[in-house]
Amino acid sequence: MARVIAIANQKGGVGKTTTTINIGIGLSERGRSVILIDFDPQGSLTQGLGVDPDSLSATTYDALIDDETPLDWVFLRVRSKVVLAPAGIDLAGAEFELAATADWQQTLRRRLVTLKTEADFILIDCPTSLGVLTVNALVAANEVVVPAECSFLAFRGLSGLLATIKGVQARFNPRLKITTILPVKVPRTVHAREALEELRRICGPLVSDIIVPQRVKVADALISGKSILEFDPRSDAAEAFRRITEVIDHGEKGIYEGARLRGRLRRL
Ligand SMILES: Nc1ncnc2c1ncn2[C@@H]1O[C@H](COP(=O)(O)OP(=O)(O)OP(=O)(O)O)[C@@H](O)[C@H]1O
Ligand SMILES: [Mg+2]
Repeated sequence: MARVIAIANQKGGVGKTTTTINIGIGLSERGRSVILIDFDPQGSLTQGLGVDPDSLSATTYDALIDDETPLDWVFLRVRSKVVLAPAGIDLAGAEFELAATADWQQTLRRRLVTLKTEADFILIDCPTSLGVLTVNALVAANEVVVPAECSFLAFRGLSGLLATIKGVQARFNPRLKITTILPVKVPRTVHAREALEELRRICGPLVSDIIVPQRVKVADALISGKSILEFDPRSDAAEAFRRITEVIDHGEKGIYEGARLRGRLRRL
């Protein structure tokens, strides 16, 4: 059984797509076979892996909307051990179309249950909202990785996300666990350092020990259709993603139950 991990945070620009690409490529470099699902109508994951969204004949949208289209029908092989379910702007329509169907929350999960795959990991890059698509990803996943911004202003949004995760656990997916809260774009400022300390104080070991520093090359890599692991493998950001990937691959940090989150959530 593949580990299904949603990469989620409803705040924009916190590093969801960067995390998905780098952990995905990182896992493949460790010999794992990986499926990456672009679940954002912006298609940033698709572009970030070097695929032109305008060239696509079938996308995640088609598999989501049409019961007859299996998910693997839309797969593109983007690296030797990585396949992508690509997305384009049509996925925005899925929000409305799915909302009109009964049991819409379970749509992606049903597609994954019927998927015949040998993959070790399925990573889902969520969009910037807590809407239909993100809820579908959380219902389909066993785990959530939360890229977080190190800013006091962002903590309120994090609390909203944790509440949504709790709601999904209670109603649809009791197995859902948070793997880690991951600061992946940490600037060298006093504010960021203080915010990180506060995040660690509140959320304890749920916050990753390893953080990814803010570096221009990480953004350059995304634009050029590569992970930082491929673009600048010796950089400190690449090394950070490699170590984070190792922790996730081993599952060594432990995965935290929803119940333990509730007290922390109230304090956020
Ligand atoms: N460590 C980093 N250093 C510098 N820039 C980074 C870093 N991580 C991500 N970025 C840049 O920040 C921007 C936002 O990152 P990314 O697209 O991964 O976030 P996102 O949460 O997926 O955004 P969206 O909400 O739009 O989907 C991108 O331009 C990306 O290249
Ligand atoms: Mg994104």
